[in-house]
Amino acid sequence: MRIGILGSGFIGGPLGRLWAGAGHEVMFSSRHPEKLVKLAEQAGSKAKTGTIEEAAEFGDVIMEAVPFLSIPDLPSDLLAGKVVLSAANYYPSRDGHIELGGKTQSEWVASHLPGAKLVKAFNMMRAGEIERRANGEPFDPLAVFLASDDAEARTVAEQLVREAKFEPVFVGRLADSAVFQATSAPLYDVQISPDEARRRLAIHS
Ligand SMILES: NC(=O)c1ccc[n+]([C@@H]2O[C@H](COP(=O)([O-])OP(=O)(O)OC[C@H]3O[C@@H](n4cnc5c(N)ncnc54)[C@H](OP(=O)(O)O)[C@@H]3O)[C@@H](O)[C@H]2O)c1
Repeated sequence: MRIGILGSGFIGGPLGRLWAGAGHEVMFSSRHPEKLVKLAEQAGSKAKTGTIEEAAEFGDVIMEAVPFLSIPDLPSDLLAGKVVLSAANYYPSRDGHIELGGKTQSEWVASHLPGAKLVKAFNMMRAGEIERRANGEPFDPLAVFLASDDAEARTVAEQLVREAKFEPVFVGRLADSAVFQATSAPLYDVQISPDEARRRLAIHS
């Protein structure tokens, strides 16, 4: 796959390194791509850098990992029709007041990316766990919850979660994703085994 990483910070950086290591072509992007040269070197020969627009165009699959309040600024026309994994979390204390209009956070993201095949992914996982895997350090098997309205996007995301050395646990549609959204849902910010994840999901869904 060609994967465009939008926002190459704590989440986008190590995920891009893992996927480049798994053999995918990766473009890291930010508003200042010149700052990403070291990251791309660390990721190996499959990785390069670009602007947000270049990565949006480059990727067949996109990893969205910019601040929540920046999502309306993304080039949505370039993302239409693509599978977009979104790690977005809304923290009012950090992002300020945003009117979600009764939507889940991921439905709100999808409303700003019309035509994109959105998957909520990695939002409930701590960046340090991703970094550990990217660094080749030992790790415990951990679940990553997913939600999507699109079957193709689900399949792609499940593969990429496994290639990032986590286990995917599918929750349901974007409308069902409140159960693992920030900041206080029962399945948010939980670092648990796939079995424990399925047990807790059965209780809370
Ligand atoms: N950190 C975690 O443990 C964690 C865990 C799960 C989910 N999340 C969520 O994942 C998302 C990203 O978090 P993060 O911790 O990776 O953030 P981060 O380290 O701050 O990285 C976000 C990147 O987005 C870029 N960016 C900032 N404003 C932008 C804009 N207006 N347009 C385009 N790019 C912009 C920044 O790069 P430039 O300034 O170079 O453009 C920055 O490196 C957030 O929604 C967060 O809540 C974080």
